[in-house]
Amino acid sequence: MALWGGRFSTGPDQAFKQFNDSLPFDYQLVEQDIVGSIAWAGALKQVEVLTNEEHERIVNGLNTLLEDAKQAPQEIAHSGYEDIHSYVEAKLIEIVGDLGKKLHTGRSRNDQVVTDFRLWSRQTAQQVLEAINQLKVEIIALAERELGTILPGFTHLQRAQPVLFSHWCLAYVEMLERDASRLTGAIERLNECPLGCGALAGTAYPVDREKLAQELGFNCATRNSLDAVSDRDFVVELLSCASISMMHLSRLAEDLIFYNSGEAGFIELSDNVTSGSSLMPQKKNPDALELIRGKTGRVFGAFSAMMMTLKALPLAYNKDMQEDKEGLFDALPTWIASLHMAQACIGGLKVNAEATLAAAKGGHANATELADYLVAKNIPFREGHHIVGQLVQLAISQGKNLEELTLDEFQGVCPQIDNDVYARLEIAACIAARQALGGTSLPRVTEALKSAKSLTSS
Ligand code: ARG
Repeated sequence: MALWGGRFSTGPDQAFKQFNDSLPFDYQLVEQDIVGSIAWAGALKQVEVLTNEEHERIVNGLNTLLEDAKQAPQEIAHSGYEDIHSYVEAKLIEIVGDLGKKLHTGRSRNDQVVTDFRLWSRQTAQQVLEAINQLKVEIIALAERELGTILPGFTHLQRAQPVLFSHWCLAYVEMLERDASRLTGAIERLNECPLGCGALAGTAYPVDREKLAQELGFNCATRNSLDAVSDRDFVVELLSCASISMMHLSRLAEDLIFYNSGEAGFIELSDNVTSGSSLMPQKKNPDALELIRGKTGRVFGAFSAMMMTLKALPLAYNKDMQEDKEGLFDALPTWIASLHMAQACIGGLKVNAEATLAAAKGGHANATELADYLVAKNIPFREGHHIVGQLVQLAISQGKNLEELTLDEFQGVCPQIDNDVYARLEIAACIAARQALGGTSLPRVTEALKSAKSLTSS
């Protein structure tokens, strides 16, 4: 049953076999292993290791296997073979007989496994891109719905300056844009074909590796056989893309958890992404968001585990590399699920515009405006900053907002302040003043929204 029994007098002991076997997780590569094998059979026909007729029988056998494998891939996991490559070869031999034993000519599991894994990675990364795009569309729709809604902007989790809710939305769209662009770059780099590199030194059969690469949808063949069988940069890159993007999702989740809290009351999450408490009947907990935040940890874990595993590995293939799969098999689906969940949360959330406005008006978030007002009255900013500090202190001592101070009170601290100060302290004026590129004024945000929409639909 093993692929390599010849030079051994006894088989592996049970504990070693269990330790060594990768089928319980690499069964997930079954389709890629068969597709790669079909392409390899073509290469063997080209170098006349297989006749046309033999090639046809092998390809038919592999296609039958592919159909079966698609039905119930998880059944393969516990069929007792060492890995997916042993499984596919053994099953092919069951179907086509001894002819199946020719398929591994000139190929090694070392070039085979990394070809399978690149195929899987490419396909799954495309699904991630799709999910990123869907989330972007959902956030853009929320930005459109809440275009003019005013939200307190925070620094140090203290109310800092008012912003448009739509501006907050578009901040996350920027992050998702970068996530998608990073991932697109990673897909581009991983899309090279290692098949035909053999165990490490290249194959001894004159196969046309560029043609092979093309058949499997790769951009080109890899150029150095030693590198090709031992390179796992694509795994590291994908895990790094996943980590950065999960970090963004986790920050989104954290913002929303806070906005949804009883203390803030800015938003309400829909029932279908929240859950209740077994004890406290009043509770509606933001579990979906907390899990996005929580799962971020294990994606970071997979990234650092892969870096640790690869560090100091000598060229070329080492069995350590078998550890490359479980982390990515977990991280990419976790990333996709988190993107979908974030989309569901965003899609169903309701903004309480009165609460956000009231909060934005409190906390003296228009203090910077007052300092800018003093600048317009020819007071240097640093001095104005100090004066406003004193006025804030005065307002706090009276339990008032800045705009609730009387003109006498203003002038008691700074005689240059006039009646026109009140218009400047209005919240709409604070927002409208941010006209420079990237700011939160309505015209800038409307433009940003338009450009985000055009990027998404392309
Ligand atoms: N299961 C192995 C892996 O995932 C396949 C390659 C085995 N190669 C070897 N020389 N033993 O890496």
